[in-house]
Amino acid sequence: MTATVIVTRQLPADVEAAVLALASDDLKVLYHKSDDPLDRATLLEWCSSSAVVGIYCLLTDRIDAEVLEACGDGLRVVSTMSVGYNHIDVEWCKAHGVAVGYTPDVLTETTADLAVALLLATARRIPEAANAVKAGEWTTWKPMWLTGKDVFGSTVGIVGLGRIGAAIARRLRGFGCAIRYTGASGPKPDLAGPVEAEFRDMDALLGESDFVVVACALVPATRGLIGAAQLRAMKSDAVLVNISRGEVVDQDALIEALRAGDIGAAGLDVTTPEPLPASSPLLSMPNVVVLPHIGSASVRTRELIAKMAAQNLQAGVQGAAALPFPVPGTAAPPAADGAAA
Ligand code: GLV
Ligand code: GLV
Repeated sequence: MTATVIVTRQLPADVEAAVLALASDDLKVLYHKSDDPLDRATLLEWCSSSAVVGIYCLLTDRIDAEVLEACGDGLRVVSTMSVGYNHIDVEWCKAHGVAVGYTPDVLTETTADLAVALLLATARRIPEAANAVKAGEWTTWKPMWLTGKDVFGSTVGIVGLGRIGAAIARRLRGFGCAIRYTGASGPKPDLAGPVEAEFRDMDALLGESDFVVVACALVPATRGLIGAAQLRAMKSDAVLVNISRGEVVDQDALIEALRAGDIGAAGLDVTTPEPLPASSPLLSMPNVVVLPHIGSASVRTRELIAKMAAQNLQAGVQGAAALPFPVPGTAAPPAADGAAA
């Protein structure tokens, strides 16, 4: 069987050209050139019927043990066009010497911009206000119509002060916000110092914050991290913002907390599942702003992410000594046997 690279989605034109240029007599590229996800049955079929050496995937593809095992033992690299890699069974890859590439850093500032935009939009009810104008409800200036919550001078609690969390904090310092943060790895003076962020344990952070911003990675320890008890511990007018992964928040508990008035509002760039079904109660709550997972979605950044993922793919397929952007703790790609190099 010819060595094969699988690409699960249509890529920006120049990145597409670079990936397709990997093809040779000895290497075939199976390219799902579509804006719709590659269905799982087809992915599994492609994996099991080819000698897969590399997979270029998106965060919408579940690259679990079943998919990885279907590839056979020639697999060298899984490259995702995202900073999050919770959709990939990284432990399996580590155990089997498969390199895993991701796209850190490049999207940090773009995602922090979106996080602050979502925080402001939710606090100041911007989507609701814009919709009211379009619906002809703007009859006159009214003293308390569409009044929201001040961001300036508020206390913002960041759950997960990583690169993105710190970039959000830096922006909010400009609004005069006091920054608190929490996370399993404890105080992070290097990131916290420049933004004067103070470490708190989770309960203290929740009780103190006017805005709680979830910016941690989804790992087993953060799945459902914000549940019923955490939501109850928040101020009754607090705003929850999630730009991480939907699964970090117990979404049923969130819906309950919003209904019960345990918190004031929510701004969600990520949900469970994605897309959120039209029947979700979240979509009919005026105090909830849902965005379609667009944190990193600037033209420039998305093009850069796609390119980085292509660089990881290429390095992995060609058996380079290391991927340019490896997931921490993962292996270097196995040396190419010549066939696909
Ligand atoms: C987006 O959520 C990413 O992980 O890049
Ligand atoms: C998470 O991946 C971050 O960069 O904060």
